[in-house]
Amino acid sequence: MNPRQEPAMHAALLEQAHRAIEKKLPGRGDVYRLAYHLAPPVGWMNDPNGLVYFRGEYHVFYQHHPYSAQWGPMHWGHAKSRDLVHWEHLPIALAPGEAYDRDGCFSGSAVVMDDVLYLIYTGHTWLGAPGDERSIRQVQCLASSTDGVAFSKHGPVIDRAPEPGIMHFRDPKVWRRGEQWWMALGARQGDAPQLLLYRSGDLHHWTYLRCALQGQRESDGYMWECPDLFELDGCDVFLYSPQGLNPSGYDNWNKFQNSYRMGLLDDRGYFSEGGELRELDHGHDFYAAQTLLAPDGRRLLWAWMDMWDSPMPSQAQHWCGALSLPRELSRNGERLRMRPARELAALRQSQRTLAIGVVESGNCILAERGALLEFELTLDLAGSTAERFGLALRCSEDRQERTLVYFDAMARRLVLDRQHSGAGVSGARSVPIAKGQMQIALRIFLDRSSIEVFVDDGAYSLSSRIYPSPDSVAVMAFAVNGSGGFGQASVWHLADLHL
Ligand code: FRU
Repeated sequence: MNPRQEPAMHAALLEQAHRAIEKKLPGRGDVYRLAYHLAPPVGWMNDPNGLVYFRGEYHVFYQHHPYSAQWGPMHWGHAKSRDLVHWEHLPIALAPGEAYDRDGCFSGSAVVMDDVLYLIYTGHTWLGAPGDERSIRQVQCLASSTDGVAFSKHGPVIDRAPEPGIMHFRDPKVWRRGEQWWMALGARQGDAPQLLLYRSGDLHHWTYLRCALQGQRESDGYMWECPDLFELDGCDVFLYSPQGLNPSGYDNWNKFQNSYRMGLLDDRGYFSEGGELRELDHGHDFYAAQTLLAPDGRRLLWAWMDMWDSPMPSQAQHWCGALSLPRELSRNGERLRMRPARELAALRQSQRTLAIGVVESGNCILAERGALLEFELTLDLAGSTAERFGLALRCSEDRQERTLVYFDAMARRLVLDRQHSGAGVSGARSVPIAKGQMQIALRIFLDRSSIEVFVDDGAYSLSSRIYPSPDSVAVMAFAVNGSGGFGQASVWHLADLHL
């Protein structure tokens, strides 16, 4: 191919995508539009990609289909922020169309080398019928930008899997380790998942190192999507999105999960596990999480705040998909802790202190009204006799519509129940509360179509999409069969940033 044709073709494809966005924008419906979470201007969004800090700004890319609110040939959408709160949408960074990425620029990561921003992504091609996952070709590709806005493609840098039998082979995560660049890839060998590692001196030439970890179909699923590998507080974390886990007890009820293992990655590329596989977030909608290292040393994480095959009522309004709030990761013994990024305090508009006190069964208390809220409150388990007690959020006047966050004393679990949370969604998710624990500290973020609950300073989190009607805004404290004690609570109305 004439090398000069390629940039011209890419530019034309980007131009075409931008025209499609401009055309759709005036018709977009905003009842479910999020106020302070990143979502695509129009069209479809899935995984966060290429999280990176470049010349004083955070850049977030994402899997994007600008032509419709359904998944389709993947582009890389792009936004940036100085403060993790205010985001500016930028032109689409990557459009599919070359022989090697004809059917999609799939997920990947970004790094900065010599003040140039590099994107490393999976070029995807359907070899049979579009959508037939039994016959695909995936290669790992490089693109770069000197201004952080316009990207040139360099083509595949890894054009075949290291072993025969691997067809699913994607989502490169690249990071610096010592004098080398390292790359982690998720792969599927037969019906078993693998974590593959490569190394490079210059991002253009890669050498296969080894399979760092091999999973078993029964316990680990069949494919590990979107791997990430990073050092955190003295250990290495392998973060990934396993496909094919079976539900068990309270776990794994989403179509796919977001999981992690803690261990140690040695210089030869062996990952030795130190603990068991754990779920990262326990809500209905959390997948494909990725991290970046902030300049102050914090490990920040974003996930796609949806799930494959979830009901997505905003599709009828020409957009769908959102990213979770950015979260700060830290180590909590054998587990990870996720706290909302501290910068998010800038969203707070006005504070009110709530003295809810003790709520008796059948005697709901109206605590607040609002759709864009943050709460900090404790549930006092010690003096409470109720079978369950907590908050009903986004309640309609007749209370038929409601999203519940409550302590279930019989199961000793903190529950997020979206059975009556509006259009499309249903079901409940929960996390365990230890025996003997006297109170539960909750931090809750409500946006127009999402809820994120952080339990006990981020020891657990539950993130789910909800689609209540815009006038369902009451917040009630409730208790069932007995009394429920609420400690001091703070509530903030949050800014509508029209992201
Ligand atoms: C995860 C995923 C990735 C893939 C991308 C395609 O949600 O399936 O493995 O690169 O989405 O959009």
